[in-house]
Amino acid sequence: MDTDTFTRARAVFDSHVAGFRDAAGTLPFALEAKFKHTGEVCEITEKIVAGEARFSPRETLIFRLCALFHDLSRFEQYAQFKTFLDRNSFDHGDRSAALIDELGLVPELPPADRACIIDAVRVHNKFAIPADFPPEHLDAAKMVRDADKLAILRLIIRFFTGDYSDPTIKLELPDTPGWTPAILETALRGNCVVYTEMRNVNDFKIGLFAWAGDINYPASAALALDEDLFGRIRATLPESDRIDALLETARSRLDTFRNLNPSCRQNP
Ligand SMILES: [Fe+2]
Repeated sequence: MDTDTFTRARAVFDSHVAGFRDAAGTLPFALEAKFKHTGEVCEITEKIVAGEARFSPRETLIFRLCALFHDLSRFEQYAQFKTFLDRNSFDHGDRSAALIDELGLVPELPPADRACIIDAVRVHNKFAIPADFPPEHLDAAKMVRDADKLAILRLIIRFFTGDYSDPTIKLELPDTPGWTPAILETALRGNCVVYTEMRNVNDFKIGLFAWAGDINYPASAALALDEDLFGRIRATLPESDRIDALLETARSRLDTFRNLNPSCRQNP
């Protein structure tokens, strides 16, 4: 039954996306990238759920649907505004949550489960989960935020290792040598780096290391380590003992977190 619900939801999602295809069935390049991103967030969600080995079929279905719907509004956002920048269009978390209702998605789910999905999708892109967020919806919100972050890290790595064509990445920073020392020290302390303080692309890459401290599930930490996401970002930064230390801090933070769940521990 759960598989049927997801399959039906996937069909509605696909027909929604089909509305943005041309006569030949082709999506604009930027939307094809978003379509693939959704697939990747779904795939990563499955991996985190399998790694955690503690969620019920009902919870698993909710998580899979959150992954599928989290960027639902990206298609109309690009079609209307030709941008993925929320500040120049609309908040895509809020709009994706509203679209779940507008498209009449998953009507067969109990209202409490639909409410959970809508809440999790709404906050997936916020700086932090709001303090007054319903506690019973937290697991779903944390799951979609983790899966989205890992998918974005993969995408950024692809971008910085040669695939510069991804239109979903728009950095308004110059690719100059060096980095801002204060930003590196902030990241080393495990604090978030503010985008407006970044002076170049290296500052942006350094800022990504704060994500190692903003992961919610041990299985997500295990995935980040297994795919060496932070090592691969570090490889695109200049030689420096301080940047090596940044990587080591991120790795040890993830390793400690991974070990909190015995089923995520590395095999000896
Ligand atoms: Fe998003």
